[in-house]
Amino acid sequence: MTETKKLYIKTYGCQMNVYDSERMVEALGGKGYTETKTPEDADMILLNTCHIREKAAEKIYSELGRLKGLKAENPDLKIGVAGCVAQAEGQEIMRRQPAVDLVVGPQSYHRLPQMEDRVQQGKKALDTDFPEEDKFDKLNARPKAKRGPTAFLTVQEGCDKFCAFCVVPYTRGAEVSRSSEQVLTEARDLVERGVREITLLGQNVNAYNGHDKGLAGLIWDLDKVDGLERIRFTTSHPSDMDEALIEAHGTCDKLMPYLHLPVQSGSDRILKAMNRKHTADEYIRLIERIRAARPDLLLSGDFIVGFPGETDQDHADTMNLVREVFYGQAYSFKYSTRPGTPAAEKTEQVDETVKTERLHALQALLTTQQKQAQEAMVGKTVKVLFEKKGRIEGQLIGKSDYLHAVHADAPDEMIGKTVSVKIENSVTNSLSGVLV
Ligand code: SAH
Ligand code: SF4
Ligand code: F3S
Repeated sequence: MTETKKLYIKTYGCQMNVYDSERMVEALGGKGYTETKTPEDADMILLNTCHIREKAAEKIYSELGRLKGLKAENPDLKIGVAGCVAQAEGQEIMRRQPAVDLVVGPQSYHRLPQMEDRVQQGKKALDTDFPEEDKFDKLNARPKAKRGPTAFLTVQEGCDKFCAFCVVPYTRGAEVSRSSEQVLTEARDLVERGVREITLLGQNVNAYNGHDKGLAGLIWDLDKVDGLERIRFTTSHPSDMDEALIEAHGTCDKLMPYLHLPVQSGSDRILKAMNRKHTADEYIRLIERIRAARPDLLLSGDFIVGFPGETDQDHADTMNLVREVFYGQAYSFKYSTRPGTPAAEKTEQVDETVKTERLHALQALLTTQQKQAQEAMVGKTVKVLFEKKGRIEGQLIGKSDYLHAVHADAPDEMIGKTVSVKIENSVTNSLSGVLV
């Protein structure tokens, strides 16, 4: 009998890492590992890392410093680093932190079982290749265990856009789409195991080309999967929103009225310097077309303040774009210089205090819009897919069609069910209501 070992996996970064972590747990399941939520009793600890901003990457080294202490107490403990920091700084990690046994880049997860053999023999293992073979073909089939009502499903990886600030084209490689057959098989399997809502993932998901009719074609195929109630997708690039995808927002009932469509800046000068391949006006016109197809769509976005060369006027242009577009929800970041990206070469870096001021101003505006969008839901009846118990006894938490977190008093049997809830209250980041 193989002895069971415990795996502790900590996930940083985007949803794609969340999905990959699930797949890694499954891949190592074949080697006798089960997941633990406490690092202290783990036989292996994996950090699934993010390289998008400097802070995210530096966090990994301090975390590894802490884990070194655990290894001192338990010399059999193996420590691994996966994800985008592994891809970008594999050798460097091994050099800076000798406690690390294993480094695996995002395209090599199917090789984890062999790498595990190697570290069990007391050797180090490093794999940051971009292999020819498809990791999803080689990864263990998902075990048939029951799952929660929502799931991520990666359909596309990598990015060919090369925005001047971004590491993703380097850490995840070129755009690759999974075949629609493979995606549909996985989706049906997820639904059999209790999933009701699938979020299709890709760094550039609307450039998906694994179906002859693109992402819209895939969505319409998924629309026919019995038992699947909701479809979402993220993240999209404005240049790849084709007519069929826009139309689907108006005609496909399972496609939810929520869209994350980052613009990064409202200044044409900065958009050009960022290599975003569209103007502010083209973005605004695009939003108009999507809203014509689906008027109640809730829009989300990403913004960067303090890109090299950004002036007060450029920042004002961003604020004006936000006022014109209106976001129900959005993320905003201070520009962070990333080694190896074109923007890192620019000399006109923006002062840190200026970045902070601009971020505060933008976030204040975005928060006001989010609050307004949430308050507009009060009094309305929305569909909520309940996902889990709330903090208060007798309460369940789920998401509305618009991705708002909603809690309501409801029996546990309603977990996994989509029900109508009348919204009564809006607080920071969530809504509450009563069953109707
Ligand atoms: N593929 C997605 C998201 C990639 S990363 C897209 O194109 O939208 C998520 C967000 O992180 C980006 O949208 C951007 O706003 C932010 N980001 C990326 N690189 C950054 C950097 N160097 N500094 C600050 N924010 C960054
Ligand atoms: Fe990065 Fe731009 Fe690609 Fe998004 S589209 S992953 S921001 S390079
Ligand atoms: Fe981070 Fe890599 Fe995702 S850099 S945002 S984990 S693709």
